[in-house]
Parts: sequence; C-alpha cells; structure tokens
Amino acid sequence: MSVTNIMTRVSVPDVMARKGAEPVVVLTAYTAPMAGMLDPHVDILLVGDSLGMVVYGLQSTLAVTTDMMIAHGAAVVRGSSRAMVVIDLAFGTYQESPEQAFRTAARVMAETGCTAVKLEGGIEMADTVRFLVERGIPVMGHVGLTPQAVNHLGGFRARGRSTAEQDKILSDAQAIAEAGAFAIVVEAVVEPLARRITETIPVPTIGIGGSAACDGQVLVIDDVIGTFSDFKPRFARRYADLGPQIGEAARLYAEDVRARRFPGAENTFALRQPART
Ligand code: KIV
Repeated sequence: MSVTNIMTRVSVPDVMARKGAEPVVVLTAYTAPMAGMLDPHVDILLVGDSLGMVVYGLQSTLAVTTDMMIAHGAAVVRGSSRAMVVIDLAFGTYQESPEQAFRTAARVMAETGCTAVKLEGGIEMADTVRFLVERGIPVMGHVGLTPQAVNHLGGFRARGRSTAEQDKILSDAQAIAEAGAFAIVVEAVVEPLARRITETIPVPTIGIGGSAACDGQVLVIDDVIGTFSDFKPRFARRYADLGPQIGEAARLYAEDVRARRFPGAENTFALRQPART
C-alpha cells in the first residue's frame, strides 16, 4: 500500500466533519471487483462480517474469523482507491480485553491497509474503544441490534420498543462516542431513538434500519442489488434485481454448451500462419 493511497482516501476527520451536514454514504463490499464498482459512489466501504451470511452461507456472523475478514478486507482495499475502508472485527476476537482487541485490530490494519475497524457493543466496550483509539486505531461503533449478540437478544428484531431499552441504547452510543469512536452504526432501532442518539452524540450516526434521522446510511450490497434472497430486511431497499439475471446467464451458457454453440470460433485459439519471408 502506498502513502498516496492513504492520502487520497476519505479520512476519519472527513467523516467526522459530516455530522449534521452532508449525509455519509456507506455500502458493504467483500471483493475487489465489487469495491471497484462502488468506490466512486460511496464515502465508506464496510467489509462487514455480514459476509458470513451473504458470501459464505452461514446462519449468523458468529463463525466468521479474522482470517476471513483479512482476506476480504485486503481485496476491498486493493479494489478501491478513494473510499475509506472499514473492517469488522470478528466475534470473539476483541470482547475479552482491550489488549486482545488491540492485537486483532492491529493485525487487521497491518495486513489489509484499511483505515479503521468496527466493533459491536455499548458501555461494556467503551474501555476497549478508548484503548484502541489512544493507540492510533480509528474505531467505528455499532449499537442497537448487534448481530454478534443474536443469541442474547433472541433474534434480529428491531430494538428500542420500551423506554428502558431506549435509554440503555442511548447510553451505549454516548459511552462509545465519549470513548473516541469516530462514527457509530445504529442498527434496527425505532425512529425516535435513532433521532435522539443522532441529536445527542457529537459524531455521525450511520443508520441501517435507523431511519432518515441518522447522519448517514449503510446497506448490505447484496440487499441493494438483489443477490441475497434468504430474507429481505424491512430496512433494505432493492435498487437492482441481479439474482435472476445471473441465473438466466448461467441457463443460457449451459444451453449453449449442451448444444455445442459455445465456444465459438471467436473463443478459440487458431494456429498462427508462419510469417512469409
Ligand atoms: O456486517 C455488516 O455488514 C454490518 C452492517 C450491516 C452495518 O455490520
């Protein structure tokens, strides 16, 4: 990774300056070609551990490993040049202690060239966020519905339906912001809470099911382009339906192979005629 590459990307101060101003645009990406297609249009490419579900067919994000995050994160950094790249820390690789989190985050950053890491959690993770930020690792927080806590939460339902839960999630966001996170993902919370968090904390909130009140928005790219159909979250909007088109392309190819219409002459290497002397 070159210094030029770092200097030309959207930076942490750039994102923080968007608070209350221009919306921050975030999409997930997991591969180099996809990163290249999204890079001109977004501020942040998030290599989310959602890749466990949308790329690896897992039931949740819990089995995702740091090696997986590094392989996909490095590909996204290679495939992009201007968006900030943020990589999720995998479940079980940062919750034990600030020191464990530092080792994991430092490895992710050194082996991928990403700008920042994201971790899930509230008050209980504040010391860890402070520890990382004070040591030069920019951290994006993630509160509300935190998919790595799916077993504890009992599913992927929206959060903040009771006043007590709203107060707890607001305190979580405040603790993570005070600890030094430069932005916080607010996932699947009721609208008044997303607004309260956004109005209270001094750093940008990035909503996913957090309503238009947030300072920015993030979606999983496969939900946007229609290549993941196991379920469609209420908060996602599909801008293209590529899944059926990909299936149709495979069907046409298979038909051509079976009918011996592929490969054609244009796909075939002919023996070159020797040059005449
Ligand atoms: O893993 C992920 O893609 C995420 C986003 C949904 C915010 O954390």
